[in-house]
Amino acid sequence: MSHKIAIDGPAGAGKSTIAKKIAEKLNYIYIDTGAMYRAMALFLLRNGICPEDTAKINAKCEEADITIGYEQGEQVVFLNGENVNGMIRTEEVSRMASHSSVNPRVRAKLVRLQQELASRENVVMDGRDIGTCVLPDAEVKVYLTASTAVRAKRRFEELAAKGGTCSLEEIEADIRERDHRDMTRDISPLKQAEDAVVIDTSSMTVQEAADAVIRLCGGL
Ligand code: DC
Repeated sequence: MSHKIAIDGPAGAGKSTIAKKIAEKLNYIYIDTGAMYRAMALFLLRNGICPEDTAKINAKCEEADITIGYEQGEQVVFLNGENVNGMIRTEEVSRMASHSSVNPRVRAKLVRLQQELASRENVVMDGRDIGTCVLPDAEVKVYLTASTAVRAKRRFEELAAKGGTCSLEEIEADIRERDHRDMTRDISPLKQAEDAVVIDTSSMTVQEAADAVIRLCGGL
């Protein structure tokens, strides 16, 4: 049977950076489930659907064929055959993903794909509901978090490096709003699995946090 490591937590806690390091160290496949929700959001935006239009999201989401592949060790998300990696990290897509990921049909479709991938390979998977819903039998479950201020600062620096113009205040407000939506939705809200180990990365370096998770994986 394949091994599974689940990493959940809010945006900006360092999940993807740390999950990638762990995957590299253990020679596992890294699966970024947020990227799948983002690809779905891009599909809906391209179809002119607004985030609040549940009926249209329901009707259209089945038409999105989302798959993932790997190029030079990096996950590539394909939307109806097109590599959309370069288009899913905008604030517009982030906002849509936060709304559309609440939709039960969107979740059912993507959870199925995630479970299928994990049944074939040793995986480190990150998201919001991995330990609680997608891989409840994962051998290692981590809930990675950090203070809102630290997460906003990280996001601000990441966007500024790409030439973004949002202010720190705007980003912090956006993070609070998204956390609230992710944590209070009816289906698979972001919450710590009972058997997850909490790691607060507010005052940790990436390497310190990765080492902490790798120690938990000692038995694998
Ligand atoms: O981790 P991220 O910021 O790339 O995720 C994008 C959005 O998708 C975010 O609003 C939360 C949602 N998401 C989710 O609901 N479940 C997951 N397993 C992963 C992401």
